[in-house]
Amino acid sequence: MRKNIVAGNWKMNLDYEQGLSLFSEIVNMVKDEVRGDQQVIICSPFIHLASLSKLSAGVTNVAVGAQNINEAASGAYTGEISASQVKSTGSEYVILGHSERRAYYGETDSLLAKKVDAALANGLKPIFCIGETKDERESGSYYDVIKTQLSAGLFHLDAEAFAAIVLAYEPVWAIGTGLTASPEQAQEVHAFIRKTLAEQYGQAVADQTSILYGGSANPANAESLFSQPDIDGGLIGGASLKSRDFLQIINVFNG
Ligand code: 13P
Repeated sequence: MRKNIVAGNWKMNLDYEQGLSLFSEIVNMVKDEVRGDQQVIICSPFIHLASLSKLSAGVTNVAVGAQNINEAASGAYTGEISASQVKSTGSEYVILGHSERRAYYGETDSLLAKKVDAALANGLKPIFCIGETKDERESGSYYDVIKTQLSAGLFHLDAEAFAAIVLAYEPVWAIGTGLTASPEQAQEVHAFIRKTLAEQYGQAVADQTSILYGGSANPANAESLFSQPDIDGGLIGGASLKSRDFLQIINVFNG
């Protein structure tokens, strides 16, 4: 069966010490509670990765991820960080295709396909984000947008490689806005994503793929979202910065 995943995306928040202290709190609270079919992932700024991986060594249900990598293997790319460098910190995951990177740093589907390849070639599992803007939702073109993001970013992979992918549906209009997709709206898109995966890779692969919801998820709405049949957890921004809120969201799966 596919895993339930609660992933925190810290974005560009927390200094070094603050990050270690929040992570330690999370590890201490979840290490004995989270079941084997559930995974907690913290995607921190690069500065924290190596230390967080050490803090969670041996805690199999807590993993660490980055929020970006460069598509190249190495070289003269001042300020960039490669997949192998991230992997060498002990990280297991990397967020790719977040709408903030698509919008503010011009990341295109074809660039993201290269980043996916770089991640997989180095044993990092991508948490690949897709989702429509407000205009795209209102014009009704969101299914096309999501299908294009999936096919241009991921469908060059064969089924074996695709097995390492975690998907996150993050409607751009719901990120950091306090506007959450309703459980029905989110479920509708998640079911569409799974159907699209089944057409590409077959039902077995589609059924194994964890599809997370992201966008103003919080302790008050997590249960109604995560109880939908095609929602396998969340990618949490703001609420992952407060240990109590994040823990409450994780505990939806333990309830
Ligand atoms: P918020 O939970 O702050 O809306 O952010 C969601 C997000 O972008 C996670 O990647």
